[in-house]
Amino acid sequence: MFLRNTWYVAGWSKDFGRELKAETFLGDEVVIYRKADGTPVALEDACPHRKLPLSDGTIEGDVVVCGYHGLTFDCSGSCVASPTQPGKIPSKAVVRSYPVVDRYRLLWIWMGDPALADPNKIFEVENFDNPDWGYTDGGVLDIDCNYLWIADNLLDPSHVAWVHLTSFAGAGTDDEPLDVERHDDGVIVSRWIYDKPASPYYKDLVKFDGNCDRLQHYQMDFPAIGLNKSVYTPAGTGGPNAPHTDKTYINISYNFMTPIDEDRSRYFWFQHRNTDPHDQAISEKMNAGARMAFEEDRRVLVAVHRGMKNKKTQNLDLGLDKGAKLFRLHLQRLIDQENTALAAE
Ligand code: FES
Ligand SMILES: [Fe+2]
Repeated sequence: MFLRNTWYVAGWSKDFGRELKAETFLGDEVVIYRKADGTPVALEDACPHRKLPLSDGTIEGDVVVCGYHGLTFDCSGSCVASPTQPGKIPSKAVVRSYPVVDRYRLLWIWMGDPALADPNKIFEVENFDNPDWGYTDGGVLDIDCNYLWIADNLLDPSHVAWVHLTSFAGAGTDDEPLDVERHDDGVIVSRWIYDKPASPYYKDLVKFDGNCDRLQHYQMDFPAIGLNKSVYTPAGTGGPNAPHTDKTYINISYNFMTPIDEDRSRYFWFQHRNTDPHDQAISEKMNAGARMAFEEDRRVLVAVHRGMKNKKTQNLDLGLDKGAKLFRLHLQRLIDQENTALAAE
């Protein structure tokens, strides 16, 4: 049901330390901790003896000791001690280990074949180290819905006109035509809206007065990363191939979804802008605004998940669903390919 050979966000790097943290990703129970030198470790969270979660045990040095009978596992998942029968470690005493990497303040986890886990395949955040760009602290939210409902939402520039009235809505967000484009790693739905006031969220952020040309660029990369780029530029200077001016304001909202299981998703985000790199007040204001908007999405998405799962009558699609349907189609192909390859092993 999920793409496994890919990097997902396991959490904010700062939230993992020298304690055993139990998590569930893609239906798998995982325990995460850091070695004494800070290196992150992720293991299957079930002792092979009686399946007590290893997260109920303790860390000793860099190894994990089961809290029931002391079977002890190193960072690769190998059993290194069996205190109730010294010197006789059962050959089957092993737990799965998952590759994990810290990058962009996030901890990334590879849920598939560890041999294929290449850190160079982690989604690239452009300009992350550019000192002229500022970013928000970001956040995390659990949403009781399948992650694909969030993906749909992040390929849908129109919903802002109804769901985000006090932030991202604005003239043209309801009915201007949308461009849908397939790119190598996913789908982009976008549109330019010309000569309109800035939306409430951006009104005090842009560095010019008067109307704007506005780009809504909604991009989803397989399997579950959304890049939402907003460009605001003085009216008359925007458009698909127009160069940026010194007044052009760019904000990119990065959205990382990790399925917990079929019915629950963990949603991480932060924002990255081409201005005010050190302005903490702006960062905090943007972060609070984004969190409020994502809470608005959460309410809708939980109800959509429930409604679609229990529908009593047929539902229908609208033109605005084109990008989301394209994304789901190609993602399903990738998942099918992965399953076919697994079955052939
Ligand atoms: S359940 Fe872990 S050692 Fe017995
Ligand atoms: Fe939204």
